[in-house]
Amino acid sequence: MDLNLSDEHRMIRDMARDFAQKEIAPIAAHYDETGEFPLPTIRKMGEMGFMGIEVPEEYGGVGMDTLAYALALEEISKADASHGVVMSVCNSLYCYGILRYGTEEQKQTYLRPVASGQVIGAYALTEPQSGSDAANIRVTAIRSPDGSHYVVNGTKSWISSGPVAKYILLFAQADPDAEPRYRGVDAFLVDTEKPGFERGKTEPKLGIRASATCEIHFDNYHCPAEARLGQEGDGFKISMAVLDAGRIGIAAQALGIAEAAYEATVAYAREREAFGQKIGQFQMIQQKLADMKMRIEASRLLIYQAALAKKASKETRSRYTLESCMAKTFASETAMWVTTQAIQIHGGMGYSKELPIERYFRDAKVTEIYEGTSEIQRMVIARLETGLR
Ligand code: CAA
Repeated sequence: MDLNLSDEHRMIRDMARDFAQKEIAPIAAHYDETGEFPLPTIRKMGEMGFMGIEVPEEYGGVGMDTLAYALALEEISKADASHGVVMSVCNSLYCYGILRYGTEEQKQTYLRPVASGQVIGAYALTEPQSGSDAANIRVTAIRSPDGSHYVVNGTKSWISSGPVAKYILLFAQADPDAEPRYRGVDAFLVDTEKPGFERGKTEPKLGIRASATCEIHFDNYHCPAEARLGQEGDGFKISMAVLDAGRIGIAAQALGIAEAAYEATVAYAREREAFGQKIGQFQMIQQKLADMKMRIEASRLLIYQAALAKKASKETRSRYTLESCMAKTFASETAMWVTTQAIQIHGGMGYSKELPIERYFRDAKVTEIYEGTSEIQRMVIARLETGLR
């Protein structure tokens, strides 16, 4: 598909593709097997500007647009979805939030080091009792009587990049009496090297095994008042607005996974023979390949539409929730479906760890779950379309 990409877009896509295929693809199986965090390649990605693609140069980023970000993330995820999620969280769930809601001082202190790839950023919304029902936050952040700081207590779970992050964008209940409760939520920038912050158990995962995920605990963690992001009571809306951006990233990650599985399957269908002919000559295989291709290209269009809607929203401040949810739902379900077909077409070889197909399949699943399940996305889409709740 020729989308008339600009020279700049082609340049970042090709740079990401080249790096991903040369440096990430060869090591992906090893890190998946061991579950180690691939720090050397993540560092290199940071040095290349991949952790702050939309962040202006004055704050350490490369100052490109959302389409550039989606193109690069797709290429990185095509080689390895674990690298993809680290990149997605840094760019959209962390940097974007500070870029949009942060003060100048917050941008210099908390945005620059992550956007320039020196340290890793994370986002902490989920708690043991609140995944889809994100407003049900029990972590508290109580302001000190002199107003100088907040005292944070409680546990957040399933924090992507939690084990390696220097800074975390945290959402906590600052006014437990607020009605509705989400109006009491504030957003904070947490420094994980300060006392009162502790990492808990690391999650053993089905897929994206090289990405690091853990619980985090706050035990009288003192967060300076200057580290509150946005106005009092705006935390929940910030968390949702940031997820609008994040969901475009996860959609691009899913697209990369689906493309990797599809390309491997086309190559296999051309080579593998059964009953005296190439399996790609059988109509049942052809039908699967055609459907895989169509769903992939439809995902791409929805993602690029969402990226353009986000870019436009910079001026208009309008929401692009609908575009983002549609792209995430369709692309993640495409990734799951395409990787399932890829295993089926590969037969026994698809089930074997000798090929990356089974890894693509395991990695695809999470894209239907994190940053809002497919069920939540559909609920949001239907609410926006009908105006009903
Ligand atoms: N942008 C700005 N504001 C928004 C918004 C958005 N996208 N969505 C909602 N809001 C505002 C609403 O306007 C409302 O404010 P007002 O009352 O002033 O109008 C307020 O937020 C509350 O909204 P709702 O009434 O819609 O809230 P709800 O509780 O009914 O439902 C939900 C919200 C859509 C279900 C939400 O909880 C949700 O998205 N859940 C999924 C959570 C999720 O995606 N978690 C992912 C965790 S992070 C992660 O997974 C990262 C990773 O590991 C890679």
